[in-house]
Amino acid sequence: MALLPILRYPDPRLHTKAAPVKAVDAGIRKLAADMAETMYAAPGIGLAATQVDVHKRVIVIDVSEEKNRLMVFINPEIVWRDGECEGEEGCLSVPGIYETVQRSARVRVRALDAEGRPFELDAEDLLAVCIQHEMDHLEGKVFVEYLSRLKQTRIKAKLAKQARITA
Ligand code: NI
Repeated sequence: MALLPILRYPDPRLHTKAAPVKAVDAGIRKLAADMAETMYAAPGIGLAATQVDVHKRVIVIDVSEEKNRLMVFINPEIVWRDGECEGEEGCLSVPGIYETVQRSARVRVRALDAEGRPFELDAEDLLAVCIQHEMDHLEGKVFVEYLSRLKQTRIKAKLAKQARITA
């Protein structure tokens, strides 16, 4: 396994729309394993392939306290959604920024697992939010794009300053 570099907003590659996975083969399983390792090391609760500059529809999530409930979603689709919720979100591609975003409170997602087997999952609360956040990445969308232009400009300036300090 290997740690993968995570793209930082406003890297334009984060706006790439990911392509469906045609076959869940050894390459995809390695990608999912490397993404999981990268997510745990960050540490984070979710990561989309887009964030590691691989434009395929793969996401990994683990919202458990113990970090022992890895979920891999390949070609995820939301087939049902219900209700609304509002919560503070962060993103490994937008370090140090936490902002409130509106999401569906409950979703049903259909996807393939790391073995290529289809499954459906009903999710709510943090898991539902995380699935929607990661699926946005596959569409080339970063959560700060739900915020006002002014806020986005401020976040870009803050991240540019951080990058200069750490460079
Ligand atoms: Ni994110």
